[in-house]
Amino acid sequence: MCGIVGYVGGRAALDVVVEGLARLEYRGYDSAGVAVLADGKLATAKRAGKLVNLRGVLEEDPPPAGTLGMGHTRWATHGPPNDRNAHPHVDCTGSVAVIHNGIIENFAELRAELEESGHGLASDTDTEAVAHLLEEELKAGDGLAAAMRRVCGRLDGAFTLVAMHTGDPDLVVGARRNSPLVVGVGEGENFLASDVAAFIAHTRDAIELGQDQIVELRADGVRITDFEGRPAEVKEYHVDWDVSAAEKGGYDYFMLKEIAEQPRAVADTLLGRIGADGRLRLDEMRISDRELREVDKIIIVACGTSYHAGLIAKYAIEHWAGLPCEVELASEFRYRDPILSPTTLVIAISQSGETMDALMAVRHAREQRAKLLGICNVNGSTLPRECDGVLYTHAGPEIAVASTKAFLTQLVAVYLIALYIAQTRGTKWGDEVFAMVQLLERMPEKVEKVLETMEPVRELARSLAGERCVLFLGRHVGFPVALEGALKLKELAYMHAEGFAAGELKHGPIALIEEDLPVVVVVPPRARDVLHDKIVSNIQEIRARGARTIVIAEEGDESVVPYADTLIGVPAVPTLLQPLVTTVPLQVFACELATAKGHDVDQPRNLAKSVTVE
Ligand code: F6R
Repeated sequence: MCGIVGYVGGRAALDVVVEGLARLEYRGYDSAGVAVLADGKLATAKRAGKLVNLRGVLEEDPPPAGTLGMGHTRWATHGPPNDRNAHPHVDCTGSVAVIHNGIIENFAELRAELEESGHGLASDTDTEAVAHLLEEELKAGDGLAAAMRRVCGRLDGAFTLVAMHTGDPDLVVGARRNSPLVVGVGEGENFLASDVAAFIAHTRDAIELGQDQIVELRADGVRITDFEGRPAEVKEYHVDWDVSAAEKGGYDYFMLKEIAEQPRAVADTLLGRIGADGRLRLDEMRISDRELREVDKIIIVACGTSYHAGLIAKYAIEHWAGLPCEVELASEFRYRDPILSPTTLVIAISQSGETMDALMAVRHAREQRAKLLGICNVNGSTLPRECDGVLYTHAGPEIAVASTKAFLTQLVAVYLIALYIAQTRGTKWGDEVFAMVQLLERMPEKVEKVLETMEPVRELARSLAGERCVLFLGRHVGFPVALEGALKLKELAYMHAEGFAAGELKHGPIALIEEDLPVVVVVPPRARDVLHDKIVSNIQEIRARGARTIVIAEEGDESVVPYADTLIGVPAVPTLLQPLVTTVPLQVFACELATAKGHDVDQPRNLAKSVTVE
């Protein structure tokens, strides 16, 4: 949420910053703004709406050229998304500019104090208070970094702050608590950003900032200290993807590209995890075999699409590893009284690794002394730092707001973990684990096959663009797939969509069925006779009541043909792995239907990738 870019070096800062903002726009698009320091003066420009609006302002009235700059793309929290509330915010003298990601929880108190001492605040935001606090602290005369340190000491909540000051004309200062901030290390230039995507065109060398750290960014170097001014330990890393991964590569939307990348993403997530002897090796897990054997309960916490991956994980973990597994929305977890102990393994799933609800759940579990394992896609993000171990998915950067390839790779990760636990605890024989791993290795090819047959799904989606509601049904692992199909349609097409466990239909939701209502049904493989036959009965029940049935079933499943108004065939795979193939048509369906309605599928309204507020 909110994208931040800072730059200092030899180039025109405005160009670097605006280019960075374009790559970060997926983080929020309520407004955009920039500040440049040139000839000892700060120039700012900002505009409500997407970056294109700001570009218009910059073309009409370009700020003076400078080599020190910063920019912001906003997802509104405090104050409506208008020009006034767009960042950067400046102090009373116009000599300090600040951008911010996060929420300053004690801002009302700070604002009242500032107003009482004569500061005029021009916006409704929590951020502006920081500009005025810096104005006060700068009076001590010890520079922007020291002033920022003292200000951070007064703030409650989550924040990444970046500031510039006319009195320090070669310095950009950043501060981080609970919100992401990474440093890009160049030659004679350095960068700050919420995400490496912002500077990946210039450097792939990055430094991960820790909690409560301050960075002083100059053209010739970077200094990182804690909030007390002590030199901080930092982690340097090299980004393993390049700028082409953060570009559309000929597709109209990132989402289309990311859907198409799924076979590769699934293959990459499996890479290097299977030893020559056929045994799984998950070295990054950093939880010893002894500790894994002691685990007596698993709790999965996650949000949104990642939560759906967690729901599927439960089936795999209980089936293969024989351990009880609960799945909980991360935002609910710490508000009940979860029973945790040192023998509980909490698995947090998060593409971004920055979702505040997931981080807070992890911290709660840490306090209760549970073991913590993260499943994460973004190297350098917060989640892996806060867990005992991590399993990275290798989906590459996911830029479209709606998650697609990250979901499929999360599924691969949870399958690997479930099988690894089974291998370690001996709940499955080595050859059984190996057989399943071999099936997993064939999944990229199966996903590719699904992608090759999507034209009828696109046609169907276009034909349904005028509908008001679509229901999704599934059983077993098909239930979370139904939830995911409904979520994709809601967030992209802004339509009413609900996912139900097919068996629950008769307990209420069947009352929703009316003539021609589109209902998508995910049918389990024929090999699961009982499950399969039950859902075929469910299809008949809804069809008898007039529903228009869209059936996703294994290729060659003749039993569903008489009851399917539209049949979407997917390759035959084992039940537990079926979500890897049944989810793809639902992603394509939602993407195409939303596009037919004229929506921007990469940036759906009101949403932002990486939800860094609770
Ligand atoms: C839906 C979507 C969101 C995220 C959720 C969690 O398409 O993308 O529901 O899945 O916000 O995000 P992460 O996985 O980054 O924690």
